[in-house]
Amino acid sequence: MEFFLDTGIIAEIKEAVSLGIIDGVTTNPSLIAKTGRKQEDVIREISEIVDGPISAEVIALDLDGMIKEGEELAKIHKNVVIKLPLTEAGIAACAHFTKKGIKTNVTLCFSMNQALLAAKAGATYISPFIGRLDDIGHNGNDLIAEIRQMYDNYGFKTKILAASIRHSAHVREVALIGADVGTMPLSVIKSLYKHPLTTNGLEAFLADHKKANTK
Ligand code: E4P
Repeated sequence: MEFFLDTGIIAEIKEAVSLGIIDGVTTNPSLIAKTGRKQEDVIREISEIVDGPISAEVIALDLDGMIKEGEELAKIHKNVVIKLPLTEAGIAACAHFTKKGIKTNVTLCFSMNQALLAAKAGATYISPFIGRLDDIGHNGNDLIAEIRQMYDNYGFKTKILAASIRHSAHVREVALIGADVGTMPLSVIKSLYKHPLTTNGLEAFLADHKKANTK
């Protein structure tokens, strides 16, 4: 499973890259707003730090507007992936960019049928939001499993990008189901390293080493 970092904060991206396990970055308008900077500037700076897919989302709601914005975003760097909302215009824009060989990430997916539409339009990635489904009492992981089965039934090449990951259990579950990518905040990535038996075991090893070397 590939790991994408879900943020627009440059310091977090630099820290995550130094961990050696990051394959790409996703942003959305809320994450860009938190930086207080222009999307174009943030995406350009990320492209200088990360050698992998970087999702940048369009703001327009109409097809022409999405195509115009997407074309501008794609000019920033070859790794930029155009993020489009799962609407009629978003799917049509996805089909347009697919024909032009520009990578796409169809976002705000909350049902298997929506994921089917994205695959039909040749999306590079589909982003089902599992945490937001959990928030309303559904099970986000069930959606990942349904999409996995449906894509495998038909051999769709669209990659399942599990999004809105909130904790380490989400990572474990989507990895077991077979999501192609998980995008998550730095705090979630850091939580994956932790296990009390690792901490306690290391403390014991170091204490024994110290005892043996202070005789
Ligand atoms: C990523 O592409 C999504 O925009 C993001 O994972 C949403 O996460 P949230 O539901 O925690 O805001």
